[in-house]
Amino acid sequence: MSGFNELVYDGVPFIQKSHIELARLTQSLTWPRIILLVTTYTILYTLTLAIYRLFLSPLASFPGPFLAKITHWYEFYYNVVHAGKYYEKIRELHDKYGPVVRVTPDEIHINEPSAYNDIFVVGATRKTNAYPRFSNGTGFEDMTAISTSHDAHRRLRVPLDKLFVRNSILRIESRVADRVARLCDRLSSYQETGEVVNLTNALSSLTTDIISSVIFEEPSDYLGDPDFNSEWYETLKQGGRNVFVFKHLPWIIGALGKPLIRYFVTHVTRWTIWDEKARREVLLIRKRPSDGSKTREKTTVLDHLVHSDLVEKEFGSGGFPRLAQLIQQAGAHNVSHTLGTMVTYLLMSPEKLRPLQKELELIWSEYDGKSTAPSWIELEKAPYLSAVVAEGLRMAIGGMNRTPRVFPNDEIKICGWLIPRGEC
Ligand code: HEM
Ligand SMILES: *[C@@H]1O[C@H](CO)[C@@H](O)[C@H](O)[C@H]1NC(C)=O
Ligand SMILES: *[C@@H]1O[C@H](CO)[C@@H](O)[C@H](O)[C@H]1NC(C)=O
Ligand SMILES: *[C@@H]1O[C@H](CO)[C@@H](O)[C@H](O)[C@H]1NC(C)=O
Repeated sequence: MSGFNELVYDGVPFIQKSHIELARLTQSLTWPRIILLVTTYTILYTLTLAIYRLFLSPLASFPGPFLAKITHWYEFYYNVVHAGKYYEKIRELHDKYGPVVRVTPDEIHINEPSAYNDIFVVGATRKTNAYPRFSNGTGFEDMTAISTSHDAHRRLRVPLDKLFVRNSILRIESRVADRVARLCDRLSSYQETGEVVNLTNALSSLTTDIISSVIFEEPSDYLGDPDFNSEWYETLKQGGRNVFVFKHLPWIIGALGKPLIRYFVTHVTRWTIWDEKARREVLLIRKRPSDGSKTREKTTVLDHLVHSDLVEKEFGSGGFPRLAQLIQQAGAHNVSHTLGTMVTYLLMSPEKLRPLQKELELIWSEYDGKSTAPSWIELEKAPYLSAVVAEGLRMAIGGMNRTPRVFPNDEIKICGWLIPRGEC
């Protein structure tokens, strides 16, 4: 048998034969057939994926519900159909399966407080990446995180960390105090009017103005808005509702919605204002000598960052607006939510509120008739106030969104389970 013979099939050279087959196939490709083909392939692909996830994945041995192991639609069902309720279901799953549960095809959920310190570790202990399920591939990576990879994250943290150490905070104390005083003035103006103040918006305006005074030379004045910018916060709230949809359908957003959503975000909402502001200020700061910038009384986050080439190296030329935007959003909403939580719980339990008021009245009474108010250094020594702040931070659970971690190099042992390294 020569090699040539093998190329002949039914007496027709193979090449020709395949042409004929192709022609026949094309003729016979009717819509029902196409649908049949696509369906068959989809089913085969899904089956293969399910089998991989069930039996071959590094997470195959972890306990969890069948559906959660094979598909992200399980989480989708609880989070999108039942509006963000997967966390409740996860609690039930822990009751059933124990402290370590596979909650999606590629995530392990751990319900063991002592494991916290094994998972969220400092860079020196172990390399850690964030697992960017929420924004990955949506084009919103830049708006939701500094950087998810361990090394890039550490590089950027260095200049940012310096801005939030004790001494830097002391330097911006007057900016914070000014804005708190402004809020108090506004709240007093409501006294005896019978009007209801929307504290969510009032506190959001407070924190937005504070953080913006830390980043920008032209800070925002949301506290000056008659209804504390309620319209803008309503827009943000609606956006927040879609987080779970974003998280589950990144491919849809990537394919269809991204250009549209980007347009909406950058043209219709106020993101643009912050962006333009950052761009303007970067130009301004570049014209100043660098040492003058950092020691100025009104020095800002941008002052400190603009003269280092780190940001643009990491993010490209849009780096500053992007970083300013991120710090602005991150510094506003989580803080106002925490403050709101404290106020709500205190108002609901007067027996907890009374001792706080007494403590503060005592501190303030020493300032009667003086033009200054107690400083942070003094206030942080007040035991009950400190306890209220600590408890507020504990109670304000933040976004109902997991912040998963990936260890690219290390396996770690938790509750008797060996968690595999890397992404699955
Ligand atoms: C009550 C106050 C705050 C709470 C409860 C809070 C909570 C959080 C949480 C839970 C994360 C996610 C971390 C993760 O994925 O592991 C985060 C990230 C972040 N927060 Fe805050 N935060 C607060 C205040 C602030 C302030 C005042 C700023 C800025 C001045 C800020 C800037 C950021 C930034 C930039 C990130 C992203 C970090 C990154 O990607 O590495 N936060 N915050
Ligand atoms: C994030 O997206 C990139 C490319 O778009 C992909 O290579 C990577 O695997 C994704 N990561 C996760 C955790 O989905
Ligand atoms: C306060 O304002 C927010 C918009 O930011 C709105 O969603 C919320 O329902 C308002 N609360 C009340 C009690 O009206
Ligand atoms: C606010 O807190 C939540 C969790 O509490 C976190 O997922 C989110 O990243 C924080 N927001 C920003 C912009 O950092």
